[in-house]
This record gives sequence, structure tokens and C-alpha cells, in this order.
Amino acid sequence: SAPRTYSLALLPGDGVGPEVTAEAARVLDACAAAFGFAIETSEHPVGGAGLDADNDPLPRATLDACLDADAVFLGAVGGPQWDGVDADLRPERGLLRLRARLGAFANLRPVAVSEALAERSPLRPERVAGTDLLIVRELTGGIYFGRPRERTETEAYDTMRYSVTEIERIARVAFEWAQKRSGRLTSVDKANVLASSALWRDVVSRIGADEYPDVALEHLYVDNAAMQVVCDPRRFDVVVTGNLFGDVLSDLAATLPGTLGLLPSASLGGRAGLFEPVHGSAPDIAGRGLANPLAAILSAAMLLDAVDEAEAATAVRQAVESVLDDGPLPPDLGGDAHTADVGAAVADAVASPT
Ligand code: NAI
Ligand code: MG
Repeated sequence: SAPRTYSLALLPGDGVGPEVTAEAARVLDACAAAFGFAIETSEHPVGGAGLDADNDPLPRATLDACLDADAVFLGAVGGPQWDGVDADLRPERGLLRLRARLGAFANLRPVAVSEALAERSPLRPERVAGTDLLIVRELTGGIYFGRPRERTETEAYDTMRYSVTEIERIARVAFEWAQKRSGRLTSVDKANVLASSALWRDVVSRIGADEYPDVALEHLYVDNAAMQVVCDPRRFDVVVTGNLFGDVLSDLAATLPGTLGLLPSASLGGRAGLFEPVHGSAPDIAGRGLANPLAAILSAAMLLDAVDEAEAATAVRQAVESVLDDGPLPPDLGGDAHTADVGAAVADAVASPT
């Protein structure tokens, strides 16, 4: 029978984006060979590369390819060479438009800190070692999109709005992950002050009671949650929260491993999933083979999960673990290996696991 085939839109972008995207693609190709599926890849400009090619940070042809694909992989966008362009032509604007057009409402950001990594954490190693959490952030609603929003000479306001339907669908994503992981879910809001949060809390509780009675649900206020991420990050497994709180908490949690070079993300729920490392285009190290490709490679593992190639996803995570244990390590993890050497080592470990 014909092999399982996935169409993949690759958007390398700017700065270190192309360097790390090449390594993610290399690992995906190794998975296809090892696990008997096929990937049809097409490559498209986005961000500054889109501006340079088509005077648009999200060229029409790039968007169309993404809307047609089974999955979209993006490296990173932005950089000082585009600092002067108009606000709605900025490279980052292309990424925001892409997320909106894909309709990806669930942003998943796992953060794991092993014993070895904990040594690099800005927090005390004994406090962070063993952290393994997943933030599920609502991405297409809340105060970043609510109307009315207005700025006049003398005042300005935004609207934090959530509908029952929007809360239900993100809650279900989070409960499903909690079931797959430890069976625990923390919902974060500000229900003591905000009407939208009081609704959030009621809806999450109802979905839990009606559909996921086996998951232990707790509610935390966002200020308390922020303290706990710093003081006791191991207490968390799956965390679900709205757009604004999730933006802040996920960047706070991203500091725990001491490098951005290991953090993957996925944005799901729309047409195709969008998979991208958490880090930006890192212009300070771009073009020199210094970037850690593991964040991109772990994002590719999330892509494999999303297309139901779970065995391949697990193989990638194990291959990354073995490289973290035995090297070669990139500079942000204390080694001196080139981006491509790290990617090749992961691909080799996928092809012939030890
Ligand atoms: P950044 O994430 O690009 O870099 C922050 C620091 O982390 C830098 O010191 C960088 O060298 C280091 N770093 C990042 N990725 C790394 C990797 N894979 N391996 C080793 N070290 C790594 O954030 P920054 O400097 O604030 O932004 C640079 C540009 O990226 C800006 O134009 C910004 O707008 C854009 N950006 C794009 C994002 C995206 O495409 N999703 C996200 C964040 C920023
Ligand atoms: Mg942020």
C-alpha cells in the first residue's frame, strides 16, 4: 500500500531560523526513512525573507501553501535589518497573521529541566531539577483581540473577552493532555477581579466535572501561579490559561532551563498545526553555526505527535536525550559543536538507536 504521506510547509525565516530549520528537516527525513512514511516538503519565505522576496512578511503564496499543508514548520522571524519598516510590514507581523489565518487557538509549550540542565538554570538547581510542565495557552482570544479597543488623547482601553465556546475548546485540549500525562491540571485566571476569568473558572470546572472526572483540577490566581513557577516549578504538570496570562507565564517558565535553545512549541486546533522553536532569530549568533537546533528538533517531534506518528516522535525525543547525555553539545549547553553536527547526531540516533 502507499506509504503514509504528509505535506509539510517549511518556513525557515530569518537569522538562525534557516540553520535550525535545516536540522529539523534532516531529523524528519531520518524519521520518514526509519518509520516508513513520506514527507513532501515545500519551502517558502516568511518574515524578513518574505519582505526581501515579495515585500510582504507573509506572501500570498506562502500563506496558500500553509493553508494546504498537513503541518507548518517555522524557524524564526525578525532582525535588525528590518527595524525601519512600517509597523504592519514588520517580520513579526507575518507570524501573527499566519497564526490567525491558521486559526490555531491552542499554543502548547512544554518545559522540561533535567538534572544536568538544572545546573544552567537561573534558579537553584535543586529547586528546578525534574521540572516537567506543559503550558496550554489560549492563542486567538482574550485581551489581545477583544473589542472595543481604543486610544484617545486622554485615555485608552482594551477588552478582555472570552466566550463559553472559546473556553470550552481550550479546556478540552488541556484536559486531554492532562489525561495523557499525570492526570493533573492547573487552570490559571484572575477570577477574584475579572468577569472574564470568573466565566473561565466556571466553564473549566464544568468541563472537568462532566467530561474529565478522572483529572484532578485545581484553580490558581495568576499572581500566585507566577510565584509558584519560580518557587516550586515541579508542582505543575499541565497548566491552562488565557492569552495574556499564558504569554507572561510561558516566557517566565522558559527561563527555567537556562537556555532558549531547547524549548519547542506547537499551535494547534486550526487547519494545519504550526510548529516552531520558542526562540527568535538570534541575530547575535546567526550564520555561524552556533545555534542550538534542539528546540527546532523537539518542535518537529511535536509535529510528529500531531500527525499521529507517535513512535517517530518518541524516537526523536530519545535521540535528543542521548545527544544531551553523550554530546555533541552546542555552545549554549557548554559544548563547541556546530549546529549541523548536533542535528546530524540526532538524525543518526533516530536511524540507529542505541
Ligand atoms: P532571541 O530568542 O532571538 O534571542 C535571545 C537570546 O537567546 C540571544 O542571546 C540568542 O543568541 C539566544 N538564543 C536564541 N535562540 C538560540 C538557540 N537556538 N541557540 C542558542 N542560543 C539561542 O530573542 P531576541 O534577541 O529578543 O530577538 C531577536 C529577533 O527575533 C527580534 O527581531 C525578535 O523580534 C525576533 N523574535 C522572533 C520570534 C519568533 O520568530 N517566534 C520570537 C522572539 C523574538
Ligand atoms: Mg511572549
